[in-house]
Amino acid sequence: MLTKLEHFDLNEYPVPALGDDDILVKVEGCGVCGTDAHEFKRDPFGLIPVALGHEGTGEIVAMGKNVKKDSAGKPLNIGDKVVTCMIFKDNPDITMFDLNKQNVGGADVYGLIPDDANNHFQGWFADYIVVKGGSTVFNVSDLDLDSRILIEPCAVLIHAVERAKTTGILRFNSRVVVQGCGPIGLICIAILRTMGIENIVAVDGNELRLETAKKMGATSSVNFKNHNGVEELTKGVEAAFGGHLADFAFQCTGSPVAHANIYKFIRSGGGLCELGFFINGGDAQINPHFDICAKEITTVGSWVYTLRDYATTFDFLKRAKAIGIPLNELITHKYPLEQINEALEMNLSMQGLKIAIVNK
Ligand SMILES: NC(=O)c1ccc[n+]([C@@H]2O[C@H](COP(=O)([O-])OP(=O)(O)OC[C@H]3O[C@@H](n4cnc5c(N)ncnc54)[C@H](O)[C@@H]3O)[C@@H](O)[C@H]2O)c1
Ligand SMILES: [Zn+2]
Repeated sequence: MLTKLEHFDLNEYPVPALGDDDILVKVEGCGVCGTDAHEFKRDPFGLIPVALGHEGTGEIVAMGKNVKKDSAGKPLNIGDKVVTCMIFKDNPDITMFDLNKQNVGGADVYGLIPDDANNHFQGWFADYIVVKGGSTVFNVSDLDLDSRILIEPCAVLIHAVERAKTTGILRFNSRVVVQGCGPIGLICIAILRTMGIENIVAVDGNELRLETAKKMGATSSVNFKNHNGVEELTKGVEAAFGGHLADFAFQCTGSPVAHANIYKFIRSGGGLCELGFFINGGDAQINPHFDICAKEITTVGSWVYTLRDYATTFDFLKRAKAIGIPLNELITHKYPLEQINEALEMNLSMQGLKIAIVNK
């Protein structure tokens, strides 16, 4: 339980009685997200006290008599491995039967709900979680633990690539630049590669991350710190594509300067997917004449995912593994639950990529 800024307490509570539609899950692991880092540091959403952790997975150990199937219609049984996606509120536009309908922005998610005295089991940084009837749950027993821990961030990129495809510009032979090689940009590269896109240039300022970008499928990389100013940097990107600008770009940093820079990397008639600003990073300065209008750039924004993207993500993870993309290397640090404070500190230090809690 995050009980004050930068401090989790390990509290023990009795497991509550299950309702007929509820599921009790024994937690196996849960990734640490940038959002958790913000909560840990500043509590911007005002959730404290809160059981955090929304990138979790575990095994069904008990369930109510009405529970038969997951949100995609697969049977659910004791012993199955599951993940949750969102909790339905009374929003008729999002139903279990229309996985495509809309993204889950604004919906409640386990791990981002203030503590409830009647049910403390609402976050994945725990031994158990209670999945209430009316939430989404998916049977992912055919995925290994590392893959299951990566489902939530991967769904962000499945959605971003689906958004990118709506422009009609992203094709098998496209030259694609991915700017920002944190977990988000690296997963973006892995998805593009798994789709069959081969001409990918990664841009970041961290050599270790750029090396990982190549393991995920980037053909070459550009370290922005080796280039003085955006004109030089654009030449670097152009050279990495053998003398061409990018057909399409994914912006995966939370830096306004990086947003402004990325237009320069894109050819006339090219496309851009901006997904780097899950939180407000401030205003960016662009030139609408040069950057958008004269070049006829097609831009899409991308925000979390739909339920349909979750189902697609499960298939992506299997395909990526099958073609040898070492996605598991994105999880650089694993901590037991007892070291949750250390795990969050490690996440803030930016020394690793994905930090995960893996229960003993
Ligand atoms: N759209 C969504 O639904 C969604 C979901 C999750 C996260 N995000 C956003 O995605 C962004 C990336 O997430 P992450 O976990 O990978 O973060 P991260 O901080 O680990 O990675 C960001 C990377 O960008 C690089 N970078 C910074 N400035 C740069 C510049 N000027 N040029 C090139 N590279 C630069 C950094 O070196 C770092 O490697 C975050 O800002 C987050 O808000 C969006
Ligand atoms: Zn997250």
